[in-house]
Amino acid sequence: MAVQNAMTADYLRSAYGGESMAHMRYLIWGDMAEKEGFPKIAKLFTAIAYAERVHAGNHFKVLGGSTSDSTVAAGGVFGTGKTAENLQGAINGELHEVEQMYPVYLNTAEFQNEPEAKRSFHFALEAEKVHAKLFQDAQNAAKAGRDMELKAVYVCPVCGHTVLDGAPDRCPICGAKKEMYRQF
Ligand SMILES: [Fe+2]
Ligand SMILES: [Fe+2]
Repeated sequence: MAVQNAMTADYLRSAYGGESMAHMRYLIWGDMAEKEGFPKIAKLFTAIAYAERVHAGNHFKVLGGSTSDSTVAAGGVFGTGKTAENLQGAINGELHEVEQMYPVYLNTAEFQNEPEAKRSFHFALEAEKVHAKLFQDAQNAAKAGRDMELKAVYVCPVCGHTVLDGAPDRCPICGAKKEMYRQF
């Protein structure tokens, strides 16, 4: 069912736009990390790009309704530097979502009694907290001139939960089973 309230719909469109841009810039920064000699950091960018696609897809589907054009206003992070600098952009973007954007969007969906939007915002908010931490770890390594230490990255295809080196039996955010996680 499509959302009923204009403000929640605006926030879903804005979040969709923001997640779409995050998806793309992480793929770009991942390519740059690979070229800079950080294949594990590149893998982290690629995996988290997928998590942002999951968020974008969730917001898009919750919007529902008939197909039509909309102008989307969404914050984005721009710039192409060394990987340590790009990671600062990633950290800033994630922290903005965790501290400002998603708490406000989530509370609006709650206030307007939009349970599907609330669920979609909740999934993204919780996953972004993990992303901020992982990007911080990656930046600490890159600043020291090292790659990250990881074997694989696992992403929940329902909520975007992201974890290194092995999926949990159940996703701590949405409860999806271990077998559903996508491995990078
Ligand atoms: Fe994220
Ligand atoms: Fe999940």
